[in-house]
Amino acid sequence: MTADALACPTQTRLFDALDDQPLDAMLTLLRQLRSDPRDGKIDLGIGVYGDEKGRTPVMQAVRQAERIVAEAQTTKAYVAAEGDARFVSLLAPIVLGAARAADDRYCGMQTPGGTGALRLAAELIARANPDARIWVGTPSWVNHYGLMRSAGLTVLEHPFFDQATQTILFDEMMSALETARTGDVLLLHACCHNPTGAGFTTDQWRAIADLCARKGLLPLVDIAYQGLGHGLEEDAANMRALLDIVPEALITASCSKNFGLYRERLGALWIRGSHAQAALRARATCMKVGRSMWSMPPDHGASVVRTILESPELTASWQAELTTMRARLNAMRAELARAVPQLASVAQQTGMFALLPLSREAVTELRVRDGIYMIENGRMNIAGLTSENLPRFAAALAPSLSKGE
Ligand SMILES: Cc1ncc(COP(=O)(O)O)c(C=O)c1O
Repeated sequence: MTADALACPTQTRLFDALDDQPLDAMLTLLRQLRSDPRDGKIDLGIGVYGDEKGRTPVMQAVRQAERIVAEAQTTKAYVAAEGDARFVSLLAPIVLGAARAADDRYCGMQTPGGTGALRLAAELIARANPDARIWVGTPSWVNHYGLMRSAGLTVLEHPFFDQATQTILFDEMMSALETARTGDVLLLHACCHNPTGAGFTTDQWRAIADLCARKGLLPLVDIAYQGLGHGLEEDAANMRALLDIVPEALITASCSKNFGLYRERLGALWIRGSHAQAALRARATCMKVGRSMWSMPPDHGASVVRTILESPELTASWQAELTTMRARLNAMRAELARAVPQLASVAQQTGMFALLPLSREAVTELRVRDGIYMIENGRMNIAGLTSENLPRFAAALAPSLSKGE
């Protein structure tokens, strides 16, 4: 018997029982991109903002706030299970609007990223109603499905978007939701839909809110890209109107994109209860769940955003830079639509993503032939485009688009 076998008898080889996991599609793409030696590669894959030079810079306000935090912070002791309460109360009016932020039926807490907020929301739902099912539009952010299932929720898909015609399948969606049961949850993207960029009209939001109220569905609104569509206020307006119609809701926010704090893992969850006590009880449940998953959310990002939002100058600087980012995304959308008339709809869509009407073969061909990297389902990151690479991208795309038709 070898020393190895002695040290680890067969029956304790726990990890041999695990299934192989397929490589994450995004990581595979990143690896391919990095090992591609060609000049002029175009990275339209991973969902981070890039500027005109293809960089993902630290925002000026963040840089300054980090200096202030580094100077002023006197301890690294634990904060609290709900995170930095001041950060949450300063972010609340930005996400919810001032009136709702002051309404005690809304209760918030800091979370590790928008992902942490979504996972907590799912855990809360599963505890409040073990039979709850969650409706997710097809397609949605790929992680939505796994997050919800990990908490034990049943995911039901409803039609949302037709990739070939680039249109929202609103009637199909509403008919599917007519079959929803009271107590089911409806996942909505507040703005800048990932992966399609498509958004409901205000009238459609109103119809969805009425449907939720009539059928007793709980909206779970994911607001991960606020400020990258039409503006901070504009991107939240439809969600806020819905919140005024339904008795209960969950709102998950992310600071990854609009503060560029991807790696700091900063987000927030708000529970809108039918009364203050219910919201507090739900938050206490979330804190208990969070305690058993990550104990407490990380502090650095929250300290930075709190410092920004406490300072009118830093807030103005953050908002100005966010405006520049949004303008760049919208300019790239307009330029792409001009260069590729089949993609006129891209100019009407918002945020970081578009789901191009491309077959998987066409996406592979673009990568292999042209060094253009995007997700295999045709999702492209608009922020990967620059005035310099856009003409080459448009030229490479044209034949694939006609083939895809
Ligand atoms: C739609 C959507 N929601 C939530 C998130 C979560 O972001 P994070 O956990 O990085 O804050 C993302 C990130 O890509 C997203 O696209």
